[in-house]
Amino acid sequence: MQISEFPKLEKKTVTIKGWVTNKRTSKGLVFLIIRDGSGFTQCVIDEGIVKPDIFEAARNLHQESAVECTGVVVKDEKQIEGYEFQVTNMNVISIAENYPITNKPHGVEFLIDHRHLWLRSRRQWAIMRIRNQIIYSIHSFFQEQGFVQMDAPILTGNACEGTSTLFSCDFYDSKAYLTQSGQLYGEAMAMAMGKIYTFGPTFRAEKSKTRRHLSEFWMIEPEMAFYDNDMNMDLIESFIKRLINDVNEKCKNEFSMLNRDTAIFENIINKKFPRIPYNEAVKIIRGEIAVNGKTTIEILNQELIKTTGRISEINKEISEKEAELKAPGIKLGKQNFIQNKIDKLKNELKELEEEERNIPQWLESAKNFEYGNDLGGSDETVLTMLFDTPVMIYNWPNHIKAFYMKRDETNQELAKGVDVLAPEGYGEIVGGGQRETNIDLLIQKINEHELPMEAFEWYLDLRRYGSVPHSGFGLGLERMVAWICKLKHIRETIPFPRMYGLLTP
Ligand code: 4AD
Ligand code: MG
Repeated sequence: MQISEFPKLEKKTVTIKGWVTNKRTSKGLVFLIIRDGSGFTQCVIDEGIVKPDIFEAARNLHQESAVECTGVVVKDEKQIEGYEFQVTNMNVISIAENYPITNKPHGVEFLIDHRHLWLRSRRQWAIMRIRNQIIYSIHSFFQEQGFVQMDAPILTGNACEGTSTLFSCDFYDSKAYLTQSGQLYGEAMAMAMGKIYTFGPTFRAEKSKTRRHLSEFWMIEPEMAFYDNDMNMDLIESFIKRLINDVNEKCKNEFSMLNRDTAIFENIINKKFPRIPYNEAVKIIRGEIAVNGKTTIEILNQELIKTTGRISEINKEISEKEAELKAPGIKLGKQNFIQNKIDKLKNELKELEEEERNIPQWLESAKNFEYGNDLGGSDETVLTMLFDTPVMIYNWPNHIKAFYMKRDETNQELAKGVDVLAPEGYGEIVGGGQRETNIDLLIQKINEHELPMEAFEWYLDLRRYGSVPHSGFGLGLERMVAWICKLKHIRETIPFPRMYGLLTP
């Protein structure tokens, strides 16, 4: 049986198999927190109930030892998920000693080096479950609407999103690249099927460590024949609403493990997403236009005051706790408890201090933002602080977007692209738009971007034979998971992250 099935098994005697994540002993009792992959539960081993050798074995168990326990499922509101497991028999499957990840706070460098083990921790468990739900909902959403999933190749002969982030490899003595996006192939497949989506790994050689960039990430790319960019934006909005609705319904337990306040989800499900043309977004970023009565400059100044206030609170708390540690005769247990708290506070302090340093820089760069520039990470953060739903920025300057993007018929300077920025400071999660159908303009753009024409001949065929208006977009799965879980860094959103300087485990 699985721990997740406990609500159906009240008062029944069942057997579970799992791993010890925590152990506490008191007189005549051992409490084990067991995880079995499906969930977590507290097992109670009572000296008065089990055989003496079993009690002794339980007392000696270490974190991550594997056990098989037989016992009774008991309802208890105070316990994890409302149940407790009263053990009648136990069989030790394997003993683990000195498990490297303890219940003390660890530095993230250490944890990332132990990613193969870190995945077992409760927080990672919750994130991976949410990721799984999002993947499930993505397929459901598109399949229900008649989209066909088709896979784009991973080895390609041409760039899609500019040549600066290509990973290259040897392909039988000629050069191949790992795909940056399935889009160009998606366009070909949409001309065969009408509405398709690709969902596969994509690669970008980003030679910098940021909290939003992975070298290998999963992208969902729908492509629709006969769609203009307005229809595209309608689809994006209903798609994101569906994902939020599903996680909100199905992942309550996971969000509470992550301390993720989900109040914003109701907003997102019910409110229309603002659609803002790029030129207006520029004015908002610079603080020239207020949104809901506030400008970016005001919001940033408030944030700075809040951050500074919290920093001095934490500093005070730390020195109080450090004084407590020096009290004469303090017990070891209490000492560890306090030290744990101090370590946690210090971690929080580090993050706040970074923010305190960042905010003035964000302010400067927002005020001086120039029309025609692409939005940087901090500009996106600043802009999205003003909203409590995702926002769609459309009608971008032509020159900062990819070669395939459709030029606006009424303004040659603009491209019919759309970026969706997630609220709460997260920034871009979707990039997409309408595709250029004018073959002469496309050829001109391919030349301007200095892309090899021969690699794009097949793509130009799509304009030669049965060309129709079409649009699509790409959602970065890990960016979505990071925002939905409200994580500080994208590295926790994928089982084994690949980033600049990170290839193992
Ligand atoms: O904006 P991008 O580059 O758009 C495309 O690739 C289009 N061809 C998509 C399309 O229209 N079919 O990337 C799309 C999304 C971004 O909005 C972001 O969510 C994610 O992919 N993304 C990354 N995620 C993690 N790490 C990176 N290095 C990413 N680069 C892009
Ligand atoms: Mg983009």
